[in-house]
Amino acid sequence: MILSKFVDELPIPPILKPRWKDQFHTYYEVNMTEFKQSLHSELNDTTVWGYEGSYPGPTIEVESGEKVFIKWINNLPDKHLLPVDYTVHGAHVDVPEVRTVVHVHGASVEWESDGYPEAWFTKGFKQVGPYFRKQIYRYDNYDRACTLWYHDHALGITRLNVYAGLAGFYLIRDHRERLLNLPSGKYDIPLMIQDKTFNKDGSLYYPKQPQKPVPELETSIVPEFIGDTILVNGKVWPYLKVEPRKYRFRLLNASNTRFYRLKLDSGQLFYQIGTDGGLMQHPIGVKEITLAPAERADVIIDFTNLEGKNIIMTNDAPAPFPTGDPPDENTGTVMQFRVTLPLSNIDTSVIPSYMGPLPKIKEQSASKIRYLTLNDNMDKYGREFMLLDNKQWDAPITENPKLGSTEIWYLINLTTATHPIHLHLIDFQILDRRDFDVEKFKKERIIQYTGPAIPPEPQERGWKDTVRANPNQVTRIIMKFGPYTGLYVWHCHILEHEDYEMMRPYIVIR
Ligand code: C2O
Ligand code: CU
Repeated sequence: MILSKFVDELPIPPILKPRWKDQFHTYYEVNMTEFKQSLHSELNDTTVWGYEGSYPGPTIEVESGEKVFIKWINNLPDKHLLPVDYTVHGAHVDVPEVRTVVHVHGASVEWESDGYPEAWFTKGFKQVGPYFRKQIYRYDNYDRACTLWYHDHALGITRLNVYAGLAGFYLIRDHRERLLNLPSGKYDIPLMIQDKTFNKDGSLYYPKQPQKPVPELETSIVPEFIGDTILVNGKVWPYLKVEPRKYRFRLLNASNTRFYRLKLDSGQLFYQIGTDGGLMQHPIGVKEITLAPAERADVIIDFTNLEGKNIIMTNDAPAPFPTGDPPDENTGTVMQFRVTLPLSNIDTSVIPSYMGPLPKIKEQSASKIRYLTLNDNMDKYGREFMLLDNKQWDAPITENPKLGSTEIWYLINLTTATHPIHLHLIDFQILDRRDFDVEKFKKERIIQYTGPAIPPEPQERGWKDTVRANPNQVTRIIMKFGPYTGLYVWHCHILEHEDYEMMRPYIVIR
């Protein structure tokens, strides 16, 4: 079923209102419920899961340093909307089928409020996971201005909970950013890009089995999910009417597996101003932007003097990435901008030439180097699954950085796919990527480089919390652990990988 493109307007998620706010703290309550929503005007309303009756969830806007408390409340049905595979970690029949726990992706948060996958809870907090500690989460928001997002993180069903709709934006603003005079207010728009597939009746389709069915299992996890329809902010191929002026867009790939390589069919540049963790030192003009699941790019698009033009944002990233099929004309289309609104006032916003210092973390400051492999494996049903450092989720913790210490991690990819590796708690910097001899490594555990070290792409030169670890490459990242101690996770952000063993706990110790 092919839906028409550009027939529905882009929705902009509402800003969440606090229940209570004084000069010391802000308190929100956020309900998770099941409801019907129109995702395209030619489609029956779709049953989705969302926060506060909205998919994507309402945008949470906070000020850097603001003390925020959020009670995330599960009011979902007991039965999952999508097919659950009870054989994957944490989703066995001994736990309730519908579990939730919310993680603010990219935020620096005390571990008890970070959304640890086994800190899940059910409706009314009747049942909770072994690491559940509190009902009301605390966010100190020490971070600089940046584009974060919140999403579900329950062990073994994250892919299903997020696909059902449990994701939203979390924006941190600060004074320094305000002084830059970037496009703001209604000219600052978050764009959550996702792929989905629909059944004829408008319901969400999620596969029950991979290509090669597992006979003993009614439902089996798939190694990847590639949808045939693209949505932005919960609408299929929407359009946005814009004025002939500059706009700031916060691009987020919130898809399960799909990568995007975004371009404007007008040949225009994106002026990228920020990465996952906030503003870059200088803006860069780029023709295309690659986003793996969970990556963000903060960009300015200038529609000045383009009155009457329609501009399409396209995608040409293969799926799965980088060796899969190129997108067709449907999945190769994301959304349309229509420069049809009159200029409501003179555009005085700017693309600043300098946005602030971005000190490089020095390699010499690292007190520890870790060599961590990304591996393929096979389970007893003959299903392929991926591991980090050849270890399953339940294996004892091996990554235990000291509070305040700096480490370099070598991500040694022995698989044939690119994996977006995400660490909770901290932002890192990418040092470089380098080709190496995979066969030699598998035999002798020796890294023999076969090419020069490649510096991060210009679009990655800033604070990152998710990095693309490409096949046949060693990707090096550097970070300082803090300001909290406790239990966190690092994982692949392809949700089908994360749910099936490509996730590891790590602990920051004193
Ligand atoms: Cu976006 Cu561990 O998550
Ligand atoms: Cu992966």
